[in-house]
Amino acid sequence: MSASLPSNFLLGFATASYQIEGAVDEDGRGKSIWDTYCHLEPTRTKGANGDVACDHYHRFEEDLDLLQRYGAQAYRFSISWSRVIPKGGRDDPLNEAGISFYNRLIDGLIARGITPWVTLYHWDLPQELHDRYGGWLDVQESQADFERYARVCYERFGDRVRKWITFNEPWIQSIFSSEGDSSTEPWIAGHAQIMSHARAVAAYNRDFKPRQGGQIGISLNGDFFEPWDSEDPLDAEAAERRMQFHIGWFANPIFLKQDYPACMRQQLESRLPKFTEADFALFQEAESDFYGMNYYTSQYARHRTGAPSKDDYLGSVEELQWNKQGRSAGEASGLHWLLSCPEMFRKHLTRVYKLYGKPIYITENGCPCPGEDNMMREESVKDDYRCRYFADHLDAIGRSTREDGAVVKGYFAWSLMDNLEWSDGYGPRFGVTFTDYETLERTPKNSALLLKNMVKVRCQSVQ
Ligand code: BGC
Repeated sequence: MSASLPSNFLLGFATASYQIEGAVDEDGRGKSIWDTYCHLEPTRTKGANGDVACDHYHRFEEDLDLLQRYGAQAYRFSISWSRVIPKGGRDDPLNEAGISFYNRLIDGLIARGITPWVTLYHWDLPQELHDRYGGWLDVQESQADFERYARVCYERFGDRVRKWITFNEPWIQSIFSSEGDSSTEPWIAGHAQIMSHARAVAAYNRDFKPRQGGQIGISLNGDFFEPWDSEDPLDAEAAERRMQFHIGWFANPIFLKQDYPACMRQQLESRLPKFTEADFALFQEAESDFYGMNYYTSQYARHRTGAPSKDDYLGSVEELQWNKQGRSAGEASGLHWLLSCPEMFRKHLTRVYKLYGKPIYITENGCPCPGEDNMMREESVKDDYRCRYFADHLDAIGRSTREDGAVVKGYFAWSLMDNLEWSDGYGPRFGVTFTDYETLERTPKNSALLLKNMVKVRCQSVQ
């Protein structure tokens, strides 16, 4: 009983454009920074690139059939900005062929009774904007261009898309945005994305929501942290500070309409950009409807002594996977950074809901099974570890909603299929569908077929 989920709990699956689409040179798509990055520095992505990826651009109908077979009520995908506006800028021409691809995708979802959840930005900035002004390092230019891109998407897709996510994990984009000065640039890139989010949400709320009636939010990532030494108040502070540096960085201005967390101001001083009165006024018009949570794992935090270095973005904290007693945060998965920690997930949900007060949708959660990167299809589809990971995390949601009072409305498994895992290339397999990268054939793993029932039984147990 205690593990039960709210009765109208939403189940979906998630992907991102560059990780699955391929067809990078087709139908007028412009280059994104990820095309450049993969080709310029192949060693940084284990030799992989998204030129073909899962070839979803050509096989999307088959992928939509899979979603239907898995009982998905919703599908979260991202739009490739440079497919819609190849050069990306506010005065640059639209690409009708790219728009038409997303129209077909959206129509295909609706025909199958699946609700589209659209992420506007999942890290694939048009290369041209990077060349023109350094992308997210130019706070003014980037927000003007992002607002126009968002408006184009609302205009062209908003009659059918009612769920919008502005950014996926701005934290990751920010900490990797440094081009030279890592003591200031992550904070500038973060500021640019916060302002771009606010501009896009204000535009939606003012000019589209009254007519289209949709909802808009953002997907923030962030691990949960517990003190390394549960007896040491400095470690307790370090754990909280670590989460403020990760989540509060974005959630304070976006959800609380406040300045950056005090601990960030204290450590970063003038290196942290300032919000103006006009920015705060904009935040008032940029009310988000939900908190999108990408969650994978948890850790322990140990305080550091001495002055933090100028390029520290963790909040002067050492991150550890075990505590003072040597207890591991959770069971190992197929990736070194990902341990399964459902109890800490429950605490994380409760903390985030209490702090920011918005309904939570889990917009990503998942894992590769131990050893899965070396498995052939027959072995990989028997993904017991993944099934257990999903079940344990659904139970944690149940406990957080029933016993701790958090409001969690839905869950998107990451990912619909094995895909390009960014700098880890095609090694780690996060999919509920096995992708054969030679033939591009898809095969459902057991988890894909079982997840619907896992949600259903947990919903029924409360009725
Ligand atoms: C990202 C995904 C990624 C996943 C697993 C998230 O940080 O949004 O694109 O594949 O984690 O690493």
